[in-house]
Amino acid sequence: MRVAIFSSKNYDHHSIEKENKHYGHDLIFLNERLTRKTAPKAKGSQAVCIFVNDEADAEVLEILAELGIKLIALRCAGYNNVDLETAKKLNLKVVRVPAYSPYSVAEYAVGMLLTLNRQISRGLHRVRDNNFSLEGLIGLDIHKKTVGIIGVGHIGSVFAHIMKHGFGANVIAYAPRPKPEQAEKIGFQHVSLEELIETSDIISLHCPLTPENHYMINKNTLAKAKKGFYLINTSRGGLVDTKAVIHALKSKHLGGYAADVYEEEGPLFFENHADDIIDDDILERLISFPNVVFTGHQAFLTKEALSNIAHSILQDISDAEAGKKLPDALV
Ligand code: NAI
Repeated sequence: MRVAIFSSKNYDHHSIEKENKHYGHDLIFLNERLTRKTAPKAKGSQAVCIFVNDEADAEVLEILAELGIKLIALRCAGYNNVDLETAKKLNLKVVRVPAYSPYSVAEYAVGMLLTLNRQISRGLHRVRDNNFSLEGLIGLDIHKKTVGIIGVGHIGSVFAHIMKHGFGANVIAYAPRPKPEQAEKIGFQHVSLEELIETSDIISLHCPLTPENHYMINKNTLAKAKKGFYLINTSRGGLVDTKAVIHALKSKHLGGYAADVYEEEGPLFFENHADDIIDDDILERLISFPNVVFTGHQAFLTKEALSNIAHSILQDISDAEAGKKLPDALV
């Protein structure tokens, strides 16, 4: 099948081409994000492969359907950027990669927590400057702290396991559909969202972004949380009201924020803007805090994850071509 791969970077090119030796699809690698403007570049293809910041809204899906696209293959787990209802109406199949490597993201979340809490990045920068002073670099033991996990699916459960068995933390979690056997096996306790917000020293987000939980971390939730708590977000930017986070950092109620995602990441992330004047004052204010650790959506980026993603999307494309059932289908 001919597949237009939007937002593709060198690492995608390498991992997908390598895996495609076993599949033989006709792959067109496009650097651009999928938008209304770039959608016509899929002409001649039967499938498009997209990533987290590609825009698969109703208008874009209509353009793709007109061009004869039959399949949208997301090379990620989250699918908040796809209008599934419209896809269904247009008879477009949508597949995603539900669990390419939960370890990649969970381990990265641990790294972000340690970088924030132990100020590792600030320490590295000081030493580069021959500044060996430790003033201002005091952290906390994570051992015996209460770690609240919102969403205990593939990634959240690995993070819970590391926090419980690696650090000896007291792990609590909020899940819309609690699974007592999972909690018992890993050793965490299910609590309400309110209790989690009010009692956690560290809160880590591991749920998908949906219309219902947009800004689940907002002015009110931040105010109810423990003074000095840390917030970790490796899930989706839209889960957090960034302006409210900035306010909570300024008032020192929030002890630190570590994020790999941002609600307005679309036009900026995955590109080098080192020579540009950034227009986004909220982002620029956010990253100016000494107690903010911020990266550009790289939590997924391990060799294992890239290889599993490539295998999963190419297999789904082959299965769709053969008219087989698609277990990873969203519609
Ligand atoms: P998953 O589908 O295995 O687990 C998500 C869990 O969240 C499910 O158990 C679900 O029931 C629960 N959930 C849904 N709505 C919730 C809510 N409002 N409150 C609490 N829990 C809720 O997904 P997985 O693989 O664990 O990924 C989680 C999220 O991580 C993805 O949706 C994606 O947004 C993000 N992600 C980020 C990456 C990065 O590179 N930064 C890479 C991969 C995923």
